[in-house]
Amino acid sequence: MSQKSIDFDALVDAHTGRVAASIYSDPELYELELERIFGRCWLFLAHVSQIPKAGDYFNTYMGEDPIIVVRQKDGSIKAFLNQCRHRSMRVSYADCGNTRSFTCPYHGWSYGTDGALVDVPLEARAYPQGLCKQKLGLQEVTRVAEYKGLIFGNWDASAPDLEAYMGDIAWYLDGVLDRRPGGTEIIGGVHKWVIDCNWKFPAEQFASDQYHALYSHASAVQVLGAKEGEGDKALGAGQTARPVWETAKDALQYGQAGHGSGFFFTEGPDANVWVDGEVSQYFRDTYPEVEARLGKVRALRLAGHNNMFPTMSWLNGTATLRVWHPRGPNQVEVWAFCIADKDASDEVKQAFERSATRAFGPAGFLEQDDSENWVEIQKVLRGKRARSTKLIVEMGLGNEKRRDDGIPGMTNYIFSETAARGMYRRWADLLACDSWDEVLERTRVYEQEVMKHD
Ligand code: FES
Ligand SMILES: [Fe+2]
Repeated sequence: MSQKSIDFDALVDAHTGRVAASIYSDPELYELELERIFGRCWLFLAHVSQIPKAGDYFNTYMGEDPIIVVRQKDGSIKAFLNQCRHRSMRVSYADCGNTRSFTCPYHGWSYGTDGALVDVPLEARAYPQGLCKQKLGLQEVTRVAEYKGLIFGNWDASAPDLEAYMGDIAWYLDGVLDRRPGGTEIIGGVHKWVIDCNWKFPAEQFASDQYHALYSHASAVQVLGAKEGEGDKALGAGQTARPVWETAKDALQYGQAGHGSGFFFTEGPDANVWVDGEVSQYFRDTYPEVEARLGKVRALRLAGHNNMFPTMSWLNGTATLRVWHPRGPNQVEVWAFCIADKDASDEVKQAFERSATRAFGPAGFLEQDDSENWVEIQKVLRGKRARSTKLIVEMGLGNEKRRDDGIPGMTNYIFSETAARGMYRRWADLLACDSWDEVLERTRVYEQEVMKHD
């Protein structure tokens, strides 16, 4: 199947809200995704707090490609394919660390932290014809850029600059990254686990799906209760939980350029019922300062879901930031980081980590609800007949609007699928189009059509 022969508009019809079930399991589409999405989009690599000193490195992935992110002697950051130029061995094994060189465990070729091949064992005897070491450095990721502490990489020199690529999702992301003057840091290590589902299920859910929380998380919400100011107390017998979707006065979903976000407007900084008491108290204590920096809407935004296309998701308040590394069409490797304000005390940071682990760690009570759905869908899609159906993604179709209260971008009511439609539109456009200019033009036309009633 050549990419030119695929009818992407038939796979994704954002105007009627239909998506072909086959996009979650087709191995040929997956190969195209690796090339045309993971090979061309800005992907989250690491947080600057993970590699503060020269020689500090962090190992991650771009799609399925292993990547070393390393702090240079001059303080800049570079990223390299973690693949020995000799016979393809991984040259760096540890999750992270500090080093002066990366030495391949197979035959001992050694690379500097700038990627240059600096040493080849028995060079003169093994390569009497000469070896052009200058040309055999590690492959460098074409572009590396930072946004408020987050480091991103991109293989595509023609892609828009990082901030242009982010567009309005940066405004929503600032609600986590820019709350206090010190910015953020990653607390503790990275939780990594595997879920047997296509990467687009979790990415889409974090972009667009608050709807599932009413039902999938009903039991967890009931146990926790949502009485304002008592988030850390379980409900007593006979008490009824009042979840945030019942108590919030308004809510919105944002969806544009493939990215998505959703949250409720609350009256006070107590909306998130599953965080520790210390975290709730910290939100209350810092509220005036954060409001002065970010305004009321984002300062109060303590329960919200988000995805920056394609695979970086985060939840406000719960302080989980994660990447959905694809592992074939039927599996995803989750890397979950706990992100918190650098200016918080050590006790509060530990409380953030506990809260993130309890709710959204690999055994987190909310994480389990979510993964169960995705795994079962993926199993259903093994069926030939199941794979030939269309999924319904039409919630809130035609109700998109631009707000006049300073909240940017194309928005809808929170219980809608505006962000999902935009995500699949961007997915299809990237697979269909050879150039970023074409992709951006298609996005512009699509969003104009979506908004023409406004
Ligand atoms: S594969 Fe790395 S030195 Fe041979
Ligand atoms: Fe969920």
